[in-house]
Amino acid sequence: NMDKALTLIADNIGRIDDYPKPGIIFRDITPLLAHAEAFAACIDVLAQRYREQGITQVCGIEARGFIFASALAYRIGAGFVPLRKPGKLPRQTYSRQYALEYGDDELQVHRDALTTADKVVVIDDLLATGGTALAAAQLVQDCGAQLQELAFIITLNDLPGVSKLAQAGLPSYTLCRF
Ligand code: PRP
Ligand code: ADE
Repeated sequence: NMDKALTLIADNIGRIDDYPKPGIIFRDITPLLAHAEAFAACIDVLAQRYREQGITQVCGIEARGFIFASALAYRIGAGFVPLRKPGKLPRQTYSRQYALEYGDDELQVHRDALTTADKVVVIDDLLATGGTALAAAQLVQDCGAQLQELAFIITLNDLPGVSKLAQAGLPSYTLCRF
């Protein structure tokens, strides 16, 4: 039952006020990961959505996205492709910079990790400003692959991530909202 699964997931996400700095409400996935049934529910709901869509590769965003993306890839019989912070991938990469609250960050993908034959979902734990997710989507497109959807465990409603992705014409899906 879908409602029961989504409630179990939301109920196992921690909340820490003023972390990592004053005014930020940190949404902590570690209780969710430690709860066998809740963690399984995340993967089961995502697998149910994507298993009939011909997905060939699941892209995970470093670091927390890796946890969910690799389990989903295994579950739906797809490959896993890491989207990594700069300087971690050993071969030729595409690279996209994005703005953080303070300063810039960057994501990279191996150029040959995806081809025009691939149908891809991008997975991350959380959508906030959308900078990370937009960079991830651009990397998939840089490779020429078809981006089916971006999926998140958590979307923060008060931040512009959802509208930023929508403006770019990118479909997104989330398991819970805060
Ligand atoms: C967090 C989170 C997302 C991103 C969302 O990752 O896991 O990837 O921020 O923020 P945005 O929508 O404003 O771009 P972080 O960069 O803290 O890295 P981590 O997964 O290595 O902890
Ligand atoms: N990444 C960006 N914003 C976050 C938040 N509020 N909680 C957890 N991870 C985050």
